[in-house]
Amino acid sequence: MERRTFLDFILKGAAVSVLPMPLVSCATDSKSKIIFKGLDPQTADLFQLMDGLSFELLIKQGDQISENDHFGSNNDYTAIVPKPDGDGYMLWVNHEYLNPLFVHGKANGVDKTLEDVHLEMYEVGGSLVELTRQEDASWQIVYDSLYNKRIHARTRIPFSNETAILGETQAMGTLANCAGGRTPWGTILTCEENYDNFYGERHPVDGSIIPSDEFGWEKFYDNPPEHYGWVVEVDPMTGAAKKHTSMGRCSHECATVVQLEDKRCVVYTGDDANDEHLYKMISKNPNDLSEGSLYVANLEKGKWLSLNIEDHEVLKANFTDQLDVQIRMREAAKLVGATPLARPEDIEVDPITGHVFVALTNNKPKGDYLGSIMKIMESNDDYSSMTFNHETFLTGGSDTGFACPDNLVFDKKGNLWFTTDISGSSISKGPYEDFGNNALFVVLRSGDNNGEILRVATAPKDAELTGISFAPQSNEIFVCVQHPGDSSTGLDALSSSWPGALGEVPKSGIVVVKGPFLDDLLA
Ligand code: FEO
Ligand code: CA
Ligand code: CA
Repeated sequence: MERRTFLDFILKGAAVSVLPMPLVSCATDSKSKIIFKGLDPQTADLFQLMDGLSFELLIKQGDQISENDHFGSNNDYTAIVPKPDGDGYMLWVNHEYLNPLFVHGKANGVDKTLEDVHLEMYEVGGSLVELTRQEDASWQIVYDSLYNKRIHARTRIPFSNETAILGETQAMGTLANCAGGRTPWGTILTCEENYDNFYGERHPVDGSIIPSDEFGWEKFYDNPPEHYGWVVEVDPMTGAAKKHTSMGRCSHECATVVQLEDKRCVVYTGDDANDEHLYKMISKNPNDLSEGSLYVANLEKGKWLSLNIEDHEVLKANFTDQLDVQIRMREAAKLVGATPLARPEDIEVDPITGHVFVALTNNKPKGDYLGSIMKIMESNDDYSSMTFNHETFLTGGSDTGFACPDNLVFDKKGNLWFTTDISGSSISKGPYEDFGNNALFVVLRSGDNNGEILRVATAPKDAELTGISFAPQSNEIFVCVQHPGDSSTGLDALSSSWPGALGEVPKSGIVVVKGPFLDDLLA
């Protein structure tokens, strides 16, 4: 949407300042003020919520969605879209990776069979499930809906515009599906992030395959790494998918779409790796992401630098053609002078100001352990501008109470919700000692408590919270609990059993959160 369109449906709000306080009066009507208190850091193996909220588990890994299909592992991005017939909704869910121990009982590093690998390949990609609101106002998955589908690492997926990569116009599957985005025409974008954990990566000099250090699928299939690391567009009614090369290839965290007045689109996407970059693509055609011009951010100059091979002698000297630039986008970005960043994660457009918010989760080799949230202000409020200003919106630390921001989302009132992703092996250790388990925070944007930051929910052990979506028709939020118990060293040495009883294998799942805090905040 254009900035003006955003402004049409938001509150007029002041800029946010950082004044963390645990007590918040959350009603806009002073006569009905309710005092809410954010959580302190937590370390229990629980999904915990601040007073004023409760949750129900909607679906978890392994639940059957139809006779032949089940819900995959490690749920991340979610999107809820209304069905065209007006009768219910479709819920898209990304499945980012899996824990082999919980899928076939063997940890990574233990010899796997082809059958084990096939079980793993089914766990990633995405789930499409029909979602309905019951008479008692609870949300349910419609078991065996005609629309329920799985897309996974063995689903054939074409490249858009019949583009051939290493002679193939189709890839085997999608994987590493972390965050995503939505298009104005109702499709879903699912982003292939840490693709190199599955089939490894191409050696930049000798062209050999650098083996993956996690799943080792390259030992079973010779699928080229170049078939992964793309933004994939999915039709939520049919499950039809295509991989776009227009936004380049990297560890895409997300793809955030803004539409220009002439219906062309600007897509912002971050490459979540140390010292990697922030990109935007401006589509060539209206309502179509398959072709466009690609740019990378230089923060020092406040410029979007073209990644068109025709614009740079250095690209002509190092790449065979524009597709080669897109396949090796990271290398091209560095050659033209892109700014290295602290692992750009999720990106959202502020409905109050139109500014582009980017989570920079951390960059440990550079001594940035706690991360920050940056905002980009495009010149003249024009998303197709080639220049911009930027500033830090919030910095992780004891003042703000958070570390390692990851997913961002604005609610209809302009409050900024974000989740954190301190890696499982670091939680409560060293620089993360005081932050407890990963959490969901909200930055309030209006009223007496403008600027205050609340820890709304905390995750079970080892988990991160992901995939926040606001429910239609109600003041509820959907939140994914991803990878509880990821540091378990055996089925008899589990570090979490969420959401089950002690000793049960932990499972990622989606919870629906509701209560007076949300009613008050979103009213
Ligand atoms: Fe999968 Fe960048 O988080
Ligand atoms: Ca993420
Ligand atoms: Ca992350």
